[in-house]
Amino acid sequence: MLQTNHDLPDGAIKSAKGSVENTANDKIFSPSIAELKLTDFRSHAKAHIVTGKGIVVLSGDNGVGKTNILEAISMLGPGRGLRTAKLAELARRDGANAWSVSALVRTQEEDIQIGVGIDPNADTRRLRIDGQNVKGFDRLTVMLPQLWLTPAMDRLFVDGASGRRKFLDRYALGLSPQHAKMSQDYERAMRERNRLLQEDPSSDSWLKSLESNMAVSGVAIADARLTALDALASGLQHSHDAFPEAEIALEGWIEAALRQDSALDVEDAFRLHLKKARGLDASVGRTLEGPHRSDLIVRHKGKDMPASDCSTGEQKALLVGLVLAQARVMSGETGRVPLLLLDEVAAHLDGTRRAALIEVIENLGAQAWITGTDPAVFQQIAFTGTHLTFDGQLIKNA
Ligand SMILES: Nc1ncnc2c1ncn2[C@@H]1O[C@H](COP(=O)(O)OP(=O)(O)OP(=O)(O)O)[C@@H](O)[C@H]1O
Ligand SMILES: [Mg+2]
Repeated sequence: MLQTNHDLPDGAIKSAKGSVENTANDKIFSPSIAELKLTDFRSHAKAHIVTGKGIVVLSGDNGVGKTNILEAISMLGPGRGLRTAKLAELARRDGANAWSVSALVRTQEEDIQIGVGIDPNADTRRLRIDGQNVKGFDRLTVMLPQLWLTPAMDRLFVDGASGRRKFLDRYALGLSPQHAKMSQDYERAMRERNRLLQEDPSSDSWLKSLESNMAVSGVAIADARLTALDALASGLQHSHDAFPEAEIALEGWIEAALRQDSALDVEDAFRLHLKKARGLDASVGRTLEGPHRSDLIVRHKGKDMPASDCSTGEQKALLVGLVLAQARVMSGETGRVPLLLLDEVAAHLDGTRRAALIEVIENLGAQAWITGTDPAVFQQIAFTGTHLTFDGQLIKNA
C-alpha cells in the first residue's frame, strides 16, 4: 500500500508497492477512478459509475447532480472538498444522516479501494483503505492527488486574498504533503495566541512558546509556497499557446524575507515581530502579520495587466491555464499525476481552447472529470474516455 512520503528524502516517493523510487519521471504514478459509488451523498441516494482511464464527461441538465459527483470525489482527500462544505450538509436530505463515497482507484501497479463516510450521529469523517480503518487523510494527497476548478472560483482574481492562498496551497500540498501539517500547526498556534492575548496577556512563557511554533510553521509554509510558486512560474512558460500566459508572484513579508535571508534568520525575525506586535494584535483581536495574510498576484503577461482587470473569459482562460500548469508541474516534480475535477469548464471556452484542454489532459495522462449541461458540446470533441449522461437520477453511457 502506498505510504505518505513524510520520512523520505526530497525527490523520492514510495511506489504503490512500497519501494522507494526516484521521482525524476522514470516512473509516473497516474491514478484513475475505475468505479465510484455514492450512498446518500447530497442528491444521490445511490449512484454507481464505472469509468475508464482518460476523460470522464458528465453531462446533464441543471440540478441533476453533476457537481455533487465531483464534490464526492473531492471528499476522497484531506480538507472539506470543493465546496468547503460542512460534513452534515453532505448527507442527503430525507436520508439516514449518513453518507459514503467509495472509489476503486486504479494505478499502474494495483487497485486500491478507498472509502470515506460518516455514520448517523458521527461528526467526523472516516477513511477506509482496502477495508482497513485509517487515521488521518494526509496520505490521500499522495495516493489520489487532486486539483479542481469550479464556477465558484471564477472570481478568484477579483475577490479577497484568502481564495488565492487556498488555490496556491492546494497545489503546494500536491508538491509537499507536509504542507498540510504545517498549516494546521500554524493555525492552531495562532488561534491559541489570539485567545491568550485576550484572556491572559501576561503569560509570557506560554505566548513565547506559541509564537515560536508560529515562527517555525509559518516560515515552513512560506518556504513551501515559494518553492511551489517558482516551479509553477517556470511551468507556465511552457503553457499551451491557446491559454494566455500568467505571470505570478507572492506578496507577503515572510516570503520576501526568505528570498534574502536563511530560514533560521526569518524565523527569528518573525518571532521577534510577534512579540513586539502583542499589544496591537490584542487590540484588534487577531494576528495582523504572517503567512495567513500573503497573496498570490496574477497578471496576464500578453496584456501586461492584472488578472483582475481582464475580461471574464480572459480570467477563465488564465485560470484554466494555471490549473493545467499546476498539474504538469505536480506530475513532473513528484511523478504523481493529479486527478482533475473541472466543473463547467468547457462552457466558457471557445472551440480552440476546448480542443487544447483535451490535448493537454491527454498528454498529461490524467483522469479528468469534466461536467457540462450540453451533451452536444462533448459530442463535437474527440477525446478518449467515457461520456455519461443523466436520465433522472440514473447515470448512463451517452
Ligand atoms: N444534502 C442534500 N440533500 C439532497 N439534495 C441536495 C443536497 N445538497 C444539494 N442538493 C441538491 O442537489 C441538486 C444537484 O446539485 P448539483 O450542484 O450537483 O447540480 P448540477 O448538476 O451540478 O447542476 P448545474 O448544472 O446547475 O451546476 C440540487 O438541486 C441541490 O438542491
Ligand atoms: Mg454544477
